[in-house]
Amino acid sequence: MPVQNPFKPTAGARPPLLVGRENLRQDFAESLENGPGAPGLLSIFTGPRGIGKTVMLGEVEDEAIEHGWIVISETATAGLVARIADAVRTASEEMGDGPVGRRVTGVTIGPIRVDTQLPPPREVHWRRRVTDLLTTLGEFGTGLLISVDEIHAVDRSELSELAAVVQHLIRESLPVGLAMAGLPKAVDDLLAEGVSTFLRRAERYNLHATSIPEVKEAFRETFQDSGVVVDDEHLDMLAAATGGYPFLIQLVGYHVWSQARRAGGTVTATALTAGLEKAKRRMGATVLQSAYGALSAVDQSYLLAMAEDDGPSSTAKVASRLGVDLVYGAQYRIRLIAAGAIEPTGHGYVDFAVPTFREFLRGTPAYGLRVHSPGRP
Ligand SMILES: Nc1ncnc2c1ncn2[C@@H]1O[C@H](COP(=O)(O)OP(=O)(O)O)[C@@H](O)[C@H]1O
Ligand SMILES: [Mg+2]
Repeated sequence: MPVQNPFKPTAGARPPLLVGRENLRQDFAESLENGPGAPGLLSIFTGPRGIGKTVMLGEVEDEAIEHGWIVISETATAGLVARIADAVRTASEEMGDGPVGRRVTGVTIGPIRVDTQLPPPREVHWRRRVTDLLTTLGEFGTGLLISVDEIHAVDRSELSELAAVVQHLIRESLPVGLAMAGLPKAVDDLLAEGVSTFLRRAERYNLHATSIPEVKEAFRETFQDSGVVVDDEHLDMLAAATGGYPFLIQLVGYHVWSQARRAGGTVTATALTAGLEKAKRRMGATVLQSAYGALSAVDQSYLLAMAEDDGPSSTAKVASRLGVDLVYGAQYRIRLIAAGAIEPTGHGYVDFAVPTFREFLRGTPAYGLRVHSPGRP
């Protein structure tokens, strides 16, 4: 029987071992136990692509189900509120003999709806239905968790409607949770726009890279359990190559594992080099290409100027490479930090938020040309 590759380098896929998020899950479990009004029941997970937001939503959903809660798991596409309202109806109908933790998904309704705004009578209707459902769930000591991924993509009017209903439920001390995830800048914009002042009260968890020693231990366990031999020195190299960045943990694991299988089940030096090379190429072609492509030309030029450094970049030096003054340079910096592309690493220094970004940029045609057309930053 061929053993399956245990690593999961796919957006939203559950990793074989969750690295470094135990505290967050624990916090959420406590909020569930504390019930209505616990701050963690209104949470937003933010961070760059591939940092593990969708996986984290899955973790809190599982925690809710283990506590006997009902979970409605949604991605913020058009028709969000209508689908949640439908799921609430399904859940109410299924309640029958009382609640058991279950995930309400696959509600039979097309994925795209044009009527994103519910007519008022129906809105009132679903608000009352969800209130009834939560009252019953509360009597059984459980509740309802609504999770919404990619909230940056949501129609503003839908989000404000959802927020208004959840706010009402919380005010009534009903056991409801709302867990959301999105890109940091998009979430900042959303909250700043005043879509809902209520959502500004959400606990904000900005997800970061995990620690290298924890990655090493996760690799050790996963390789061992799947019958691939790897020595300590190679484990150190593998863990370091990921920078603790979750998507890269899966990519590196996947490709090195696959090369090791071809080499007879051992992570040899050749298998390691070949695997890392493949992982970096995939990283460039997926996450980095789309993150970079989504930026304006001026923001891209800031990143290209940073890539000339081998480590964290002095913001003063980057500004001078671009031929702009510090104040102007600071505006790029703020925007790129908000976009999750770079991070401040100390006074006057910034670095890439995602590993292998530097190598990726050095490989792009525009690298080193220092073409820069200062428009409005
Ligand atoms: N804590 C973690 N430990 C190990 N791998 C993880 C972890 N969180 C996410 N991953 C992996 O990283 C990749 C990206 O996760 P995902 O949740 O889709 O990120 P995001 O939603 O932030 O873009 C997936 O392959 C997933 O299996
Ligand atoms: Mg995601």
